[in-house]
Amino acid sequence: MFDDDDYIVSAFDGQDDEERVVDSEKTEYDDVENILRPKSMEGYVGQTKVKENLTVFMQSAKLRNEPLDHVLLYGPPGLGKTTLAHIIATEMGGQIRVTSGPAIEKSGDLAAILTNLNEGDVLFVDEIHRLNRNVEEILYPAMEDFSLDFIIGKGPSARSVQIPLKRFTLVGATTRAGLLSSPLRDRFGVMCRLEMYSNDELTEIVTRSAKILGSDISPEGAKEIGSRSRGTPRIANRLLRRVRDFSIVAGHDEITLEDAKKGLKRMEIDELGLDSTDIRLLRAMAEKFNGGPVGLDTLSATINEDATTIEDVYEPYLLQLGFIARTPRGRVLTANAYKHLNISAPKGLQISVFEDNDA
Ligand SMILES: Nc1ncnc2c1ncn2[C@@H]1O[C@H](COP(=O)(O)OP(=O)(O)O)[C@@H](O)[C@H]1O
Ligand SMILES: [Mg+2]
Repeated sequence: MFDDDDYIVSAFDGQDDEERVVDSEKTEYDDVENILRPKSMEGYVGQTKVKENLTVFMQSAKLRNEPLDHVLLYGPPGLGKTTLAHIIATEMGGQIRVTSGPAIEKSGDLAAILTNLNEGDVLFVDEIHRLNRNVEEILYPAMEDFSLDFIIGKGPSARSVQIPLKRFTLVGATTRAGLLSSPLRDRFGVMCRLEMYSNDELTEIVTRSAKILGSDISPEGAKEIGSRSRGTPRIANRLLRRVRDFSIVAGHDEITLEDAKKGLKRMEIDELGLDSTDIRLLRAMAEKFNGGPVGLDTLSATINEDATTIEDVYEPYLLQLGFIARTPRGRVLTANAYKHLNISAPKGLQISVFEDNDA
């Protein structure tokens, strides 16, 4: 499948059992991510609208001498939600306390976290759509009135107790804003949707990351990696590190376009950044379902990938590319996808038909 080449391949053996290189979910291999995280708004590439708005809201809060309103950051994995939460804390001059929806099991756990916050601190709750209901209910008065409300005792002797909290900012992150309960969603004063990055922005991120990692990279090499990163900085950084391995082993003192091409080919990432799972998904739609519509669960069973992973990780980029579209009856394959797969499209399907992706 690969060219005969002079690269050492053993480092990549068994890769399929570990992590997928284009998987944008965080893995234990990503500690280096912290080094690559921009620490300030100036270093944070792209997301112009979100940055501009947040900057105004933060300035205003400072002038009012109040904490920033609670912020909900949403969008696919790897686009910079966690990074932004840290930047917000830094710019507001508070400490950040990091937790996640599934990590908080009991309402008492959350109560303990909340009572330990100081004025102006940021409580970052990742995967906030996965908070359980009891825990979530503690959050409502905490967000709204900076107060902890709970009931002590049972039956006739039960009484409600209120404990005041310091004024903090909750920053919630989710890949699924739609799964948030509406009482929770309503308590966020600021909602920011992160968009996929352009190739130029990703190239800039790759260039910046290479510098931090102490590697030289040619502009063409950076562009090649950036344009195959499916709009996602986390993937750009991961591809950069893999390509850098190829470059180092080849004895190059700069990461070249050729290194990038060879490395990406070795990782089975095509010119659009699609990997073997994306292609399997698209092919299944074309060959087994005649282009759809096909439901998410059927597709998930057919290609043997978790439905949530398909929805959170694969689909956003395929929708962005205009390769699939969502219709009320399920996912359909577009003519552009047929073209990319080199399969002839069913009659009547036109190139560049973009459907409503929010359906
Ligand atoms: N706007 C950005 N500019 C530069 N690098 C970014 C940006 N957004 C994300 N990154 C990089 O991508 C990595 C993943 O971002 P992260 O904030 O963890 O994503 P998320 O929390 O949305 O999954 C970070 O470590 C950082 O290096
Ligand atoms: Mg994150």
